[in-house]
Amino acid sequence: MKIVLASSEAIPFAKTGGLADVASALSKALAEAGHEVSLFLPYYPQSTARRGINADDFETCPEKVIISVGSKDVEASLLKAKFPNSNVSVYLVDQPRYFDRPELYHEGGCDYQDNCERFIFFSRSVLEFVDKLNLKPDVIHSNDWQTGLIPALLNIEYQDRPGFEKTASIYTIHNMAFQGQYWHWDMLLTGIDWKYFNRHQMEFFGQLNLLKTGIVFSDMITTVSPTYANEIRTERFGYGLHGVLDSHADRLVGILNGVDPSEWNPETDPNIEANYSAKTVEEGKPRCKAALQARLGLPQRPDVPLLGTISRMTDQKGFSLILDAAENLLTTDVQMIFLGTGDPLHEVAFTNLAKRFPDKVATYIGFDEALAHQIEAGLDIFLMPSQFEPCGLNQMYSLIYGTVPLVHEVGGLADSVIDASGENLENGTANGFSFWHFDATVLYRQMRRAVEMYSDKQNWNQLIQTGMTKDWSWNQSAQNYLSVYQRACSLRACKTE
Ligand code: ADP
Ligand code: GLC
Repeated sequence: MKIVLASSEAIPFAKTGGLADVASALSKALAEAGHEVSLFLPYYPQSTARRGINADDFETCPEKVIISVGSKDVEASLLKAKFPNSNVSVYLVDQPRYFDRPELYHEGGCDYQDNCERFIFFSRSVLEFVDKLNLKPDVIHSNDWQTGLIPALLNIEYQDRPGFEKTASIYTIHNMAFQGQYWHWDMLLTGIDWKYFNRHQMEFFGQLNLLKTGIVFSDMITTVSPTYANEIRTERFGYGLHGVLDSHADRLVGILNGVDPSEWNPETDPNIEANYSAKTVEEGKPRCKAALQARLGLPQRPDVPLLGTISRMTDQKGFSLILDAAENLLTTDVQMIFLGTGDPLHEVAFTNLAKRFPDKVATYIGFDEALAHQIEAGLDIFLMPSQFEPCGLNQMYSLIYGTVPLVHEVGGLADSVIDASGENLENGTANGFSFWHFDATVLYRQMRRAVEMYSDKQNWNQLIQTGMTKDWSWNQSAQNYLSVYQRACSLRACKTE
C-alpha cells in the first residue's frame, strides 16, 4: 500500500507529547511490514536544532508550491529526511514565517494567535506536495485537529484530481480535549465554501471546529485505544462531540498505540546507567535507581519505594490528585520524582513540595528526554492517575522497564494495566495497580497498597515479569491500522463507483 501520514509533530524532529512518538513509530512499523510510507510534518528549525539535528541532515527538494490561505499566497518548500534503519520518507514542510518559532504551538502559556492559519497552511501544503511528488497514495492518514482539514479537502477539492481518485482518508483522534476551535471568519482561511459551515460538518456552536471537520469528512476514524473509542461517545469524555461520534460510530475504531523498541528498550537504551532485560532486571534496575537518586540529589537508598511521574503538568494528568495524595504518603518512608512542564500552578506546587521535603522529593521542571528514560528505568512505581487518557504511553514504557504503573482505569490505561487483585495475581495477568473513583483519597490508598506490595518481593517480581515479557511493540497495532486502511479504501471505492 502507498501510505501518507500527516502529523504536526514526530520524533526525532519535534515533540511535545505522545503524538510525536506515535507518528514516527507507526510510520516505521508500516514500512517494516512492506508498505511505502511518506510522513509529512512541518519543519520547525528551532526545535530540530535544539534536538541536535542540523541542516546537513536534510536534503532540499526542488519542488515548491504556493498555498492560498485567505487572501495571502504563501510559498512552501520541502526538506527530505530518513529515519535511521527505515525506509520511511520523511518530508518537512518549510515556511519560516509559520514554523521558525521557539515552540510548536504556544509560548509562555499562550497559544500562537495564528495557529489556525499555520495548520491550514500545513494541511494544504501536504496535499499539494503529495500531488507534486506524484505519490498517488491509497490512503492519507491525518492526526488531531492540526490536520483535520485534510479529509475535508480530499473530499471537496481533490477527489477528482488525477492521482487522488482512489485516495481514502483516515483520521486519528489522539485527544478530544484539543479541538482546534476558531471564530467563524477563519472559515475564510480554509478556502472551503461557506455551505460546509453547518452543524453537520465544520461548524460547532458558531465556530469553526477542525477536529469535527476531520471526523465528519474522513472515510474511517480511529482513536488510540478501544476503551477511549467507547468513552468518547459519552458526554463525560466526548467534549461536546459525543453525539457526532455516536452518529459516526460505524466508522470509529479504537487501536491501542504500541512502543517503538528502537526508542524504548532497557536492553539497548543508551540513556540509562545499566542495560537490563526481564532476566537481568534484578541486577540492572537497582543500578539505574541509584544513578537516578544521585542525579536528582536524593539519598541513594536501594530499598526505599521510589514513586514518580513524567508528564505534561495539566489537570488531565491528575496532578491535583497526586499533590493531595503525595502530601499524605510523604509522612511515610518513600521517595518521589516529578518531571514535567505545563500549568504554572502545578509547576509551583511540585517545586514547593520538593523544597519542603528535600530528602524525599525531587521535582524537575522542564522537558528532558534523556532524564525521562532514566526515570522510567529508575522508578519502582509510575503514577498515572489521569482524569482521562486516550492511550498514554508512559504506562507502557514503565511496563517494559520493570516499573509498576499505578493508573486511573480509563482509556488506554484501562486497556494496558491490569490490577494486582488476588485473582489477577493468581492467574498471572496482573501488571500494576488501577482504581476507578477519581479521588485523592482513593489514589492515596492505592499508593499505600502499591508501597506495601513493594516489600513483598515475590509478588512484586511477578508484576515486573508480567509487564516486561508481554509484547508491547507496534506489530499487532500496525496490522490493525492496515485493516482500517483497507476498509477505508473499500468505502472510498463504493463512494466513487
Ligand atoms: P500526552 O501525549 O497526552 O502528553 P503520552 O503518555 O501519550 O501523553 O505521551 C507523553 C510523551 O511525552 C511520553 O513520551 C513522555 O515520556 C513525554 N514527556 C512528557 N513530558 C515530558 C518531559 N517533561 N520531559 C520529557 N519527556 C516528556
Ligand atoms: C495524546 C493523548 C495520549 C496519547 C497520545 C498519542 O496526546 O493525550 O493519551 O497516548 O496522544 O496517541
